[in-house]
Amino acid sequence: MPSPDLPAELKAALDGKLRGFSRSDAAGRAASISKTYRDGGGSGGIRAEADALAYALARMPATFAAVTASLNALVEIRPDFAPNSLLDIGAGPGTASWAAAAAFPSLQDFALLDANATLRALALDLARDSTRLRDISYERGEARAALVKSDAADLVMASYMIGEIGDAERRALAELMWEKTRDTLLVVEPGTPAGYARIIALREHVIALGGHVAAPCPHDGKCPLQPPDWCHFTQRLQRSRAHMQVKDVELPFEDEKFAYVALTRTAVAERPSRVLTQPLVTKVEVTARLCTPAGLAVTKVPRRAKADYASARRWRWGDAVTVGD
Ligand SMILES: C[S@@+](CC[C@H](N)C(=O)[O-])C[C@H]1O[C@@H](n2cnc3c(N)ncnc32)[C@H](O)[C@@H]1O
Repeated sequence: MPSPDLPAELKAALDGKLRGFSRSDAAGRAASISKTYRDGGGSGGIRAEADALAYALARMPATFAAVTASLNALVEIRPDFAPNSLLDIGAGPGTASWAAAAAFPSLQDFALLDANATLRALALDLARDSTRLRDISYERGEARAALVKSDAADLVMASYMIGEIGDAERRALAELMWEKTRDTLLVVEPGTPAGYARIIALREHVIALGGHVAAPCPHDGKCPLQPPDWCHFTQRLQRSRAHMQVKDVELPFEDEKFAYVALTRTAVAERPSRVLTQPLVTKVEVTARLCTPAGLAVTKVPRRAKADYASARRWRWGDAVTVGD
């Protein structure tokens, strides 16, 4: 499975862009972009090249890690999926395309689209020397208008994008993204209650249009979680020195919380249960909260069930598991 850390080629391209670029200026710009997000805004304020670079430095590692974790979950459920073409909606600096290239050696055609000219320019720069991504096509435009003209793709992705548009626009975009999906649609959002709510609304909408969930849910029914619970996962990633400077932090890693859904045209034959939070392991038993095909369950695996206990001890939040494995 691909690593959640940025691939060497992308790291090198980012480092190249950073030469001669002030870290304290980047930190200031990244802080202001983060504040805009916290206040409910989007990436519309990213206009200067330095803003785009600050955004990429501060956020690209985490969104890359979240998309990679979501793709790994998809691949685990559908190991035979070998997409040829990708459509990356709201691609920004190209994060999801880089993650998809690492997850699927089969991918040949990469079509990206985004309204932001500065992020588009950065994405093209970062991809220029990449073996897999140097021939990407990147359309600049408003998502719906650009999508109408796009060819359908085997894999369609929107990463950290649907939170930047209004509800009505999001519903229309969901329909259009599904229309352009030949096989699988993957949408990733921040792991907040609001991000989860957007994922759940899109999930229901696409199921009503004939889609099936491949991951994370083991069913196409209504999400059994009730507020204040929300379905989300976490991915740990290493921070580079530049990343720590830009974020003004000392911890050498961060945990990115994310929510996601992968929807397919054909139902997956067997969908394992999903571990909803980090299981509690004691010497007596493993206690895990699972989303199962039959709904929520708190499963206890006693130590006396030796093989099951040994396997359940390795369960991690977000894993797909079959009880009795
Ligand atoms: C938070 S960034 C995420 C970028 C990238 N997908 C990632 O995961 O790093 C959101 C992106 O969506 C784009 N976006 C937002 N609304 C859009 C729209 N209506 N049409 C096209 N792009 C849009 C923004 O320009 C921005 O690049």
